[in-house]
Amino acid sequence: MPGIESHPDFAKIKSWAEIIKPDDSFAPKLGIVLGSGFTPPAEIFESIKDMAFSQLKEFPVPGVAGHSGNFISGSALGVDLIVSSGRLHFYEGHSFRSISYPISIMAALGVRDILLTNAAGLINDKWQPGELMVVRDHINFMGVNPLANWPVDDPNSRFIDLSRAYNRKLSHMLELALSRNGCEPRVGNYVAVSGPSYETPAEIMMFKSFGADAVGMSTVPETILGNYFGINMCALSCFTNWAAGLNAQELKHSEVLEMGHKSSRLASMTIKEFLSIYASEIK
Ligand code: HPA
Repeated sequence: MPGIESHPDFAKIKSWAEIIKPDDSFAPKLGIVLGSGFTPPAEIFESIKDMAFSQLKEFPVPGVAGHSGNFISGSALGVDLIVSSGRLHFYEGHSFRSISYPISIMAALGVRDILLTNAAGLINDKWQPGELMVVRDHINFMGVNPLANWPVDDPNSRFIDLSRAYNRKLSHMLELALSRNGCEPRVGNYVAVSGPSYETPAEIMMFKSFGADAVGMSTVPETILGNYFGINMCALSCFTNWAAGLNAQELKHSEVLEMGHKSSRLASMTIKEFLSIYASEIK
């Protein structure tokens, strides 16, 4: 498995990781990337060090309302964890390599498991906006791949297997977390588009025929790179809206954000439950 040392920007990543971690004893096993509307569960999460993306020299700065952008080192139920609150998006002009920097930093800190969270448009008409979905698999419709042009000593190492891109054990923990919160655990396929425009109804019909249940503008590059580094990945989507054309309403970014905020309590309770299952499993 290629190590983080093989990253073309390894020197920068290592220096960021050094600044982010509170001290040398900090050894996070788990990383969490929080998409819009997701917050760390305040009841159990103890923040130790908080570092804004903008405080890290040469780190790209996200530009979307709802994505503040900081790394929080902390612990929950005895587990050290590193949280990226906010993320970088391809549609902001960042390269595929740089949108995955939070994953690379987590890899440099020795993280073994990562939970990605995102807001998504709902395609599956049997489900409801406001619900949460465990990502079973993805369709990369962004047209790019973070491993393209990736300089490697062994060119074959780029051809990674993605037949189980989302770790079964971690995904199962997410499902259990949802059931414990009284939610029907939705499990489905996430299609990633580059954005920033929302999709057309015709595109959504096509994605539906592909077997996609939800659509969003993130997660996939992070999952691919995480798999490259041998990190176990899992992802949770919050449906903030019906995907284009599935109801009579126009899509408005402000309403997508508002729905994200409305669901944030449930999302945070799900992360809390996930952390308690995770903490008891790894002991
Ligand atoms: N499409 C793409 N990305 C999204 C959506 C959507 O409908 N909702 C939230 N993120």
